[in-house]
Amino acid sequence: MQIEQLGSCLVALISRHRKEAVETDAQNKMKESEDITHGFTVPCYWQSTGTVLYCDSASMEQRMSIRPVVIVTGANRGIGFGICERLLRQLCYGSPPDSAPNARSSSGRPWEFWQDCDGLTLLMACRNSASGHTAREQLLKQFDLHISRLKELAHIERAKKFRENLNVEVAVVDLTVASSVLKFAAWTREKFTYVSHLIFNAGIAQFNGVRALPAMKQVFIHPSTAVKAPRYLKERVGDKTGDGVGLVWQSNVLGHYILLQSLKELLEECPNAQGTSARVIWMSSLSTFLDHSDYNLHDIQLTASQHPYQDSKYQIELLAAALNQAKLKSNANGAFHLVVEPGIVATGLDQFNNRGLWRVLRTLTFVTARLVNSHSFPTSAHDAAISATHAALVDLHPLEARLESSDKSQLKFHSRAPLKRKPYVSYDQSLKLDEVNTARSAQILVVCDRLYESFLPVQIQRE
Ligand SMILES: NC(=O)c1ccc[n+]([C@@H]2O[C@H](COP(=O)([O-])OP(=O)(O)OC[C@H]3O[C@@H](n4cnc5c(N)ncnc54)[C@H](OP(=O)(O)O)[C@@H]3O)[C@@H](O)[C@H]2O)c1
Repeated sequence: MQIEQLGSCLVALISRHRKEAVETDAQNKMKESEDITHGFTVPCYWQSTGTVLYCDSASMEQRMSIRPVVIVTGANRGIGFGICERLLRQLCYGSPPDSAPNARSSSGRPWEFWQDCDGLTLLMACRNSASGHTAREQLLKQFDLHISRLKELAHIERAKKFRENLNVEVAVVDLTVASSVLKFAAWTREKFTYVSHLIFNAGIAQFNGVRALPAMKQVFIHPSTAVKAPRYLKERVGDKTGDGVGLVWQSNVLGHYILLQSLKELLEECPNAQGTSARVIWMSSLSTFLDHSDYNLHDIQLTASQHPYQDSKYQIELLAAALNQAKLKSNANGAFHLVVEPGIVATGLDQFNNRGLWRVLRTLTFVTARLVNSHSFPTSAHDAAISATHAALVDLHPLEARLESSDKSQLKFHSRAPLKRKPYVSYDQSLKLDEVNTARSAQILVVCDRLYESFLPVQIQRE
C-alpha cells in the first residue's frame, strides 16, 4: 500500500515538473514573440516577414508550413470550377497576384492573410460524384499544363513544390438534403483537424419566363439595372425539397448554413493550426442593391416570394453581415465572413436564357454591355471567380477599418472585367445592418438554427 502511494506521489511530482517545464517554455516563446512584435500582446504569432513564430497547439512542421484546407461547394462547373482553377494558379506563386493589395501591418496587430503556401488541400464539394471526378481530372490536367508553361526558374521550382503538396479531393454533398450535408461534415471532421476556407459558391435559380410589362418599364426607366438586376424575370415559385424546405432557399442559404454550423469547430481550430483566422466566403450577386421593401418577414424559406433567387442572395448578405459582426465583436477564434459577387457571366445557372433566341439575345446584351464599358460582364467563369479568390487570399488588415466600420455595413467584393484588360476586384460596403436589416438577419438565424437542430437527431439515428 505504502509502495503504491509512493509510486503515485512520484508520478504526480514528475508530471507537475513536466507541466511547469512546458509552461516555462511556452512563456519564453510568448515573450520572444512579444519582443518581436514590439511589446504588443498579440493572440497569434506573426512577424513582419509573415513567418509563423509560435503556435501553442501546432507541431514544429505545422508552424513552418502554411497549408490552407479549402472547401468549395458547386466546384464541378461554372464559377465554382473557376474558383478552384484560379486558386491553384494563384497559390503556386509566392505572392499570389489575386492577394493584392498586400500592405504591411504597422499596428503590431496580427495580419490575416494567406500567402506563401507550400501546399493546399482542396475539397471539391459536388452534388454528383461522377461530374466531380471529371472536374478534378480536368483541373489537375490544366494546372500541370500551366506549370509546364511557366518560364522563370524560381516560379517553376516553387510551383513544382506546391504541386507535390497539393491534395485535391472530391466529396459528395447535396445541399438540398440536410443528411447529405451532415454526412459530408462528419467525413470532413474525421479527416481534417482544421478548415481554413469555406467557399459557399453553389446555388440555383429557377428562371422560367419574362414579365413583359415590368421588363419594358425597367428597360426604359433603369436600362443598366435591367441587365444587372432584372426584376422582370419569372421564377418558379413554391417548390420544396424532400426535407420539406423551400428549394431555392435550402440550396442557396440553409444548406450552407448547416455546413457552417457542422464545421464550426474545424474553423475555430484554424488559428491554432495556421496562425490566422479562417474565412467563410458567401457568393452573392449584383442584384442585392435593389430595394427590398417587398421582402416578406413571414416567408423566410421564400416559398411565396416572386423572386426567391434574388431574395436568397439578400438573405446571404444579411447572414454574412450578422455573423461577421459577431466575430468582430467577440474577437474569438471564429471565421471572418466575407461577401463576394462574380458579375454576370454565361454559365449553366440561367437555364431559361441558355436556350435558342434567348441565348442569342443574352450574348448580344453582354457584348453591348462590354462595348459600352461596363465592367460587370466577365467573359469567363475564371475571370468571374476573381472576387472569391481575392477574398480568400487578401491581407484583411488594410481593410480592417472597413470590416469593423461603426455603421456595421458589410464589405462586398466585386469581380470586374474591363474590355481587353485584366480582371480586377472592387469593393464597397453594400449592406448596412440598420434596425430593419438587423431584425431580418436575426430572424433568418433563428429559423436556420431551429432547422439545423431539428435535422441533427435524424442524422444521429441514421448513423
Ligand atoms: N453566373 C452568374 O452570372 C452569376 C451571377 C451572380 C451570382 N452567381 C452565383 O454564383 C454561384 C455559381 O453559379 P454559376 O453561375 O457557376 O452556376 P452553375 O454553372 O449553374 O453552377 C452551379 C453549381 O452549384 C451546384 N449545385 C446546385 N445545386 C446544388 C445542390 N443542391 N447541392 C450541391 N451543389 C449544387 C451545381 O452542381 P450540379 O452540376 O450538380 O448541378 C454547380 O456545380 C451561384 O451561387 C450563383 O448564384 C452567378
